[in-house]
Formats: sequence, C-alpha cells, structure tokens
Amino acid sequence: MSTGKFIVIEGMEGAGKSSAIAVIENTLNKQGIDYVNTREPGGTPLAESLRDMVKSVDHQEKLTVETELLLMYASRSQLLANKILPALAAGKWVIGDRHDLSSRAYQGGGRGFDEKIMNTIADITLKGFRPDITLYLDIDPHIGLSRAKARGDLDRIELEQMEFFIRVHNKYRELAAQDTSIVTVDAAQAMLQVHQDIEQAVIEFITKTDLD
Ligand code: TMP
Repeated sequence: MSTGKFIVIEGMEGAGKSSAIAVIENTLNKQGIDYVNTREPGGTPLAESLRDMVKSVDHQEKLTVETELLLMYASRSQLLANKILPALAAGKWVIGDRHDLSSRAYQGGGRGFDEKIMNTIADITLKGFRPDITLYLDIDPHIGLSRAKARGDLDRIELEQMEFFIRVHNKYRELAAQDTSIVTVDAAQAMLQVHQDIEQAVIEFITKTDLD
C-alpha cells in the first residue's frame, strides 16, 4: 500500500481557510481518496489542551513568546507522532489546517525568532518531515483582520497590533516565494475564483502524484 500525502492549508486570520478546506475535501472525495483532517495547534486530545493554552485570553500571567513558540511545537510533536504519521502510514491522506509554516510566519516573522532557532526546534520536532504540498491563502492583513473581527470574539493572538500581522504576512510571502512546494492562492479574489484555484491546484497535485 502506498503512503498517503499531507496537504496543508495556510494563511492569516480571515483568509478563508475553512471554506478552502471544504473545497479540498470535496476534491478528494470526488477522486475517492480517503483522508483525515488535522488542525494546528491541536488535533489530538493533548494538543487540543495546548491549543486552549495558546489561544486563551484569560491567563493570570503573560504568556511569554518563548512559551508560545514551544507550545506550538509541543502540539505539533503530539500531532505528528499520534495522528499524521499513523494516518499516512495507513495510506490515508491528511488535510492539515496549518503546520510548520505558521510557526515560521507567526513566531519567526511576527515574534522575531531568527531562522537558526526556528530550524533547530523544527529539526528536533519534525526530523525533516514536510508537507507534500501547502496551499497558502494570501490576504492583506487589513482585510483579513476585519473579516476575523466581523466573525466575533478574538483570541489572544488575534488581539495583536497590526504591525505584528504585517510582519507575519511579509514572512509568509517571503517563504512562499522560495519554496516550490507552496502554492500561493490570491485570497482577495471573488470566492468562486479562490475555490477554483484551490481545486485546480489539488487536481494538478493528484495527477502528478499518480504519475510518480
Ligand atoms: P486558527 O487556526 O483558528 O486560525 O488559530 C490558530 C492561531 O494560532 C492563529 O492566530 C495562528 C496561530 N499560530 C501560531 O502563531 N503559530 C503556529 O505555529 C500555529 C500552528 C498557529
């Protein structure tokens, strides 16, 4: 049995990740591909507890940026070992709502951790594991944040200042431009066009996978 593939969807607050995931699911369903969903931080019982810690605005003390960074990777370690790798080994595909690129953008770009530190922690946690394809939904943070605000209560990270999100956005774009496994989708387009672009990228990836 061949191993599954790991497809990741990435993007900032308000980029439309949830509906993009529905498009990916629909595309895989049409091709008869069996998949599981994950999200980060989170995706296993323990990792979901870490997600609550990261997102909560009710802490009695300030969460340090170092703790935030380590919680993201602690969550990723649990998810990789206990859900992603077993699913792939069983021949299932995995649709990931965020993965390592989020840490690179938010903790690397947003919080300012340098590449060397990010690489070291990623090496310890992921041991070279990488998504097969990442679909990055690119949205101007001003537009994305206003969409997220319209949706309701903001979590701890969503309450950051605009300068933080501009740094995150710049890092996302920088990393997407230098990695051929990342497909950038213009999420500011009409929703129908965004969904068509996603479907097309997934179909191209499936076709390429079939040929390998
Ligand atoms: P969301 O998945 O519901 O958008 O919430 C996750 C939040 O956590 C979002 O603000 C992005 C942030 N995040 C990081 O800062 N680093 C990470 O590595 C991940 C996975 C998420």
